[in-house]
Amino acid sequence: MARLQDKVIIITGAAQGMGATHARMCIEAGAKVVLTDINTEKGQALAAELGNQALFIQHNVTSEDDWTQVIAATQAYFGTINVLVNNAGITQSKSILETSLDDYRRILEINQVSVFLGMKAVIPSMQASKQGSIINISSINGLVGGAIGYTDSKFAVRGMTKAAALECAPFGIRVNSVHPGVIATPMIMQGDTKAAVEAFAKSIPLRRVAQPEEVSRLVLYLASDDSSYSTGSEFIVDGGLTAQ
Ligand SMILES: NC(=O)c1ccc[n+]([C@@H]2O[C@H](COP(=O)([O-])OP(=O)(O)OC[C@H]3O[C@@H](n4cnc5c(N)ncnc54)[C@H](O)[C@@H]3O)[C@@H](O)[C@H]2O)c1
Repeated sequence: MARLQDKVIIITGAAQGMGATHARMCIEAGAKVVLTDINTEKGQALAAELGNQALFIQHNVTSEDDWTQVIAATQAYFGTINVLVNNAGITQSKSILETSLDDYRRILEINQVSVFLGMKAVIPSMQASKQGSIINISSINGLVGGAIGYTDSKFAVRGMTKAAALECAPFGIRVNSVHPGVIATPMIMQGDTKAAVEAFAKSIPLRRVAQPEEVSRLVLYLASDDSSYSTGSEFIVDGGLTAQ
């Protein structure tokens, strides 16, 4: 039997980057995947390419109403939800003095409040079925410092994961965080940033940027029953960057 045979998985921010790769690899492993994103054009095109094990739903992760609709539509289309991957996120690299209050609130809403809303929306259905795996995508900037706003939001995701893991364990729901290092996705490989990222990669112990698939393999582990005893934990995939 395929590793994720018939598991129903919701992945946010799945129109491109790591979310898209997680969706593709979960489907290859037998799962039924709901891809959500604010980018409808890209999300719909990817779901069409992935076939009848994929469904795209337009979704702004900061909207509680959108979350209610995503959960209801997933249950109606595929049935019991087994896994939620809170992956959607944005980055920013401004200093504290350059960051406006609106900038600051925006990144916390998209990277942090969204994870609260996603867990709040999915937990009732997972409680009812006495199972579930919630995978919250943080960053190495949830472990060590980086830019203001981004770092704050990713540290919060790490903490929320532990709070949720303790609260949800009695119901058989596992909650873990994933901490990627430098991964080749549109988020960091566009325009001027690409050259800077490649130069920085020389300082990583494994001397390179990772491909999204290298993070997806960890997400597949946490989505599968292979990780049945892991909850409240931090899973780092960073080529040794934070070991230095
Ligand atoms: N790329 C990296 O090096 C890296 C490293 C550590 C952590 N991460 C984290 O991994 C996750 C995925 O990053 P990526 O590199 O694939 O990014 P990406 O920019 O390539 O993709 C992010 C996706 O999220 C979607 N999105 C943004 N705001 C949204 C919203 N409000 N509602 C719904 N969807 C929204 C975008 O449309 C996009 O499709 C993010 O949480 C990011 O912070 C990335």
